[in-house]
Amino acid sequence: MRVFVTRRLPGDAVERLGAEHEVEVWPERLPPGRDVLLSRGADLDGLLALLTDPVDADFLAAAQRLRAISNYAVGVDNVDLAAATERGMPVGHTPGVLTESTADLALALMLGIARRIAEGDAYVRRGEWRTWEPGLLLGRDLHGATVGIVGFGRIGQAVTRRCQGFDCEVLYTSRGGGVEIGDLLEGSDFVTLHVPLTPETRGLIDAAALRRMKPTAYLINTARGPLVDTDALVSALRAGEIAGAALDVTDPEPLPDDHPLLGAPGLLVVPHIASATHATRERMAEMAVDNLLAGLAGERMPHCANPEVYER
Ligand code: DGY
Repeated sequence: MRVFVTRRLPGDAVERLGAEHEVEVWPERLPPGRDVLLSRGADLDGLLALLTDPVDADFLAAAQRLRAISNYAVGVDNVDLAAATERGMPVGHTPGVLTESTADLALALMLGIARRIAEGDAYVRRGEWRTWEPGLLLGRDLHGATVGIVGFGRIGQAVTRRCQGFDCEVLYTSRGGGVEIGDLLEGSDFVTLHVPLTPETRGLIDAAALRRMKPTAYLINTARGPLVDTDALVSALRAGEIAGAALDVTDPEPLPDDHPLLGAPGLLVVPHIASATHATRERMAEMAVDNLLAGLAGERMPHCANPEVYER
């Protein structure tokens, strides 16, 4: 069968796909454009997509032969899941394997923003380090802080375990319990987001939510950029409504060089690297290939984001 893999993946998992199917791997650093996806779509039996590829209703309409989609991510907000499900098409994703790496980065961002690590590095490199100073680059402690975990799934729980090791008090929201989000926002020194991007969570952290946070608190986002209203965040940082934000994901993504967020005070930003370790990205590739091989063989995908397609 004919398969399109929209970027080169770490490790050798794609070789397993190639052993069974005719595989084209997009060779460029930047993603294939929408026109490329649409034109490839018509001949494809399988697609291994990245979170940067819009697998939308137009693509699905063009891809009439398509039998299976495998997303190289746990999040599937780039895929029109409802349209795929309507077609009875399984969509694979990569839960679990990136949980611990993502939680590690959430902690790194908390420490990075609160202990001003990037600022300190830049200060030294600018040649401004003259002596030890009692008031130089003062930050805030993570140990003993109250951390608000928005979303208590695998990643939220992995962040909680790490925070317990830092003697933090943890508040969390979850569908099955926890605290109200308003109480979490008001009571936390760090608010860290671990919910998927859905129509319900888009813009969850808006101007009103930011105003409920303490002026000494930090917002951490390793989930999806559009959970946060970017304009509201820029205003909140400029007005000192919160102490800072540490972001692995942004809206838009990537941020243009002249984006106002980059000029806002108290910002630490990295380029969507929470799962970016050699081991994790290779495990994600193995899982994405396993999902696609199963989907193409007409078998149940080991990790399917729309398992209801198997219940028909
Ligand atoms: C995901 O998997 O959804 C991450 O954002 C990238 O690993």
